[in-house]
Amino acid sequence: MTRAICPGSFDPPTVGHLDVFGRAAALFDEVTVAVLVNPSKTGMFDIPERLELLEAVTSGWRNIRIDSFSGLLVDYCANRGITTIVKGLRGVADFDYEIQMAQMNRKLTGVDTLFLPTAPEHAFVSSSLVKLVASEGGDVSAFLPPVVLAALASRLPPGTS
Ligand code: PNS
Repeated sequence: MTRAICPGSFDPPTVGHLDVFGRAAALFDEVTVAVLVNPSKTGMFDIPERLELLEAVTSGWRNIRIDSFSGLLVDYCANRGITTIVKGLRGVADFDYEIQMAQMNRKLTGVDTLFLPTAPEHAFVSSSLVKLVASEGGDVSAFLPPVVLAALASRLPPGTS
């Protein structure tokens, strides 16, 4: 059985994340989407909310499971027989950061990283930009799965989404 992981903050999950999850699910027998628990960083959505949103947006894939983790990603992978980390790359800025983590992770335990180029129509979509635009009243409906859009709208003051 081939096992991969899509790790991230997912605060909140976007259509770009969803595209990568689906492509990973077509390549591997089992894909874990795992939310990093970072106690020093509070997000817009807490961890249980993010897990709930991820469960909802991935319910159409039978081979995607949702989890959270803390500590080193490589330890989580080693404990669960996960051999490959799958990451979406939007461009060179992502690459500069991601290549270092990929090389460090491979050096630590041998876990490899597979980079998937994001679909061009999602190249500029990030959770942080979506939150920024939404908080100023911009229309972010093209960038979020409907269930996430609804959750975000309920979080913002009336009139801002
Ligand atoms: O969505 P993000 O915030 O870009 O995701 C980053 C994430 C969670 C994939 C990365 O920070 C990570 O793997 N953190 C776990 C801790 C760890 O293993 N750090 C060492 C990386 S070399």
